[in-house]
Amino acid sequence: MRLDDFRLKLGNKEFVPIIIGGMGVDISTPELAVAAARLGGISHISDAESPAVADRKFGTHFVTDKQERFFSERKNKIKLNVHFDLSMLAEAQRLLVRKTMEAKKGAGVIFINCMEKLLMNNPLKTLQTRLLAAMDGGIDGITLSAGLHLRSLHLIKEHPRFRDVKIGIIVSSVRALKIFIHRAKLVKRLPDYIIVEGPLAGGHLGFDIKGWSSCDLKTIVKEVLSFLKTQNLLIPVIAAGGIFTGTDALEMLQLGASGIQVATRFAVTQESGLPATVKQEYFRAHEEDVIVNLVSPTGYPMRMLKQSPALHASTKPNCEALGYLLVGDGTCPYLNAYCEASERNPAGPISVPHKVCLCTHMLGYRVWTCGHNVYRLKKTTHQLPDGTYQLPTVEDVFRDYQFSENHEILLPPNRVADLPSSYTPQAHRNHAL
Ligand SMILES: Cc1cc2nc3c(=O)[nH]c(=O)nc-3n(C[C@H](O)[C@H](O)[C@H](O)COP(=O)(O)O)c2cc1C
Repeated sequence: MRLDDFRLKLGNKEFVPIIIGGMGVDISTPELAVAAARLGGISHISDAESPAVADRKFGTHFVTDKQERFFSERKNKIKLNVHFDLSMLAEAQRLLVRKTMEAKKGAGVIFINCMEKLLMNNPLKTLQTRLLAAMDGGIDGITLSAGLHLRSLHLIKEHPRFRDVKIGIIVSSVRALKIFIHRAKLVKRLPDYIIVEGPLAGGHLGFDIKGWSSCDLKTIVKEVLSFLKTQNLLIPVIAAGGIFTGTDALEMLQLGASGIQVATRFAVTQESGLPATVKQEYFRAHEEDVIVNLVSPTGYPMRMLKQSPALHASTKPNCEALGYLLVGDGTCPYLNAYCEASERNPAGPISVPHKVCLCTHMLGYRVWTCGHNVYRLKKTTHQLPDGTYQLPTVEDVFRDYQFSENHEILLPPNRVADLPSSYTPQAHRNHAL
């Protein structure tokens, strides 16, 4: 048996049961999402820092406009007045979603990952704006992530697409799911799918920093399935975190999950937004390079490579231009830590070892977040004569999950072998990336 023997049913549509998880900031690019949709699967873009992403892609000036507007605030330790203009935020979000959806082809669909923890100095209004604008832009589905999302459904219940857009939630425990379902019942809108993310995932983790290593995905999936059964709720469960082979995926479906969500293997595809050099760092990583720490100002543990350049960078915060993690009272744990460090040592150098300016460094691809299995990536492709690794395409990785058996990995076609005799490793790198 293999994953392709199953289909994921959402409403009246069927999909290859592979969901590519949201990877912010712009690691799960529109190109990546479009490629997966063409193959009949489900993929995400992320709405993390969407104004900055829109500027990069479409030549808008949302970030510089905001920075100029709040230039006079840069010396203030508390950024009470630094707010997102909601119409600008909606415009950026709509632009990103609309352009993505215009490029979509095939039987699959494209969802957007919305992190509640991006509080943006005005938590409810900015979240509401992002969610409504994503629906306006034509997104097929919204995955609510990084938070309990107790008010999210309520915030969008008047939108004409509220009952037709697919809505899912990411949880890491039955406890969180119970709370969400209780609130969902109040607006008579249950989630269309539930992603159960285990402790081996990339990005932020929904576990305690000390407790994550004693939990495992299969146990939590079984607990969620049995909770849904006791409630007579027929909601598809999607397993996520550490699913590395098609056989891992198959085991989750045999357990009762309806699909899987994966990310790390797609982070190094040609279509992923990570810079080429960073993709090679992911391939080169060893197991001992993978750490879980508390440097994220969100307060959630995060998994990353210990070589991440953001660690110990002690960057000057740029909340006037970015400010996605300001909690609503004009502060952010990184901003606070930076100000304290500069007061302690006004002549410099300033050292903020325990926190990272996530807004700045996720945007610059300097937080190398990854799933626990990142160190196995080198076994999934060919090493080139110059020691670098050939980048697979989304299709290569997708087909491997879909069709491989017995924990084997179907390697991508060796594109070096097809190259003309004028080939040099450098030329190949430019071509492939
Ligand atoms: C590079 C990277 C970035 C991620 N960013 C996000 C994110 O912005 N929001 C989110 O909810 N999950 C994020 N995740 C988690 C994935 O969406 C996914 O659920 C998880 O990593 C799946 O496990 P796997 O990476 O072992 O396949 C990220 C994962 C990776 C690898």
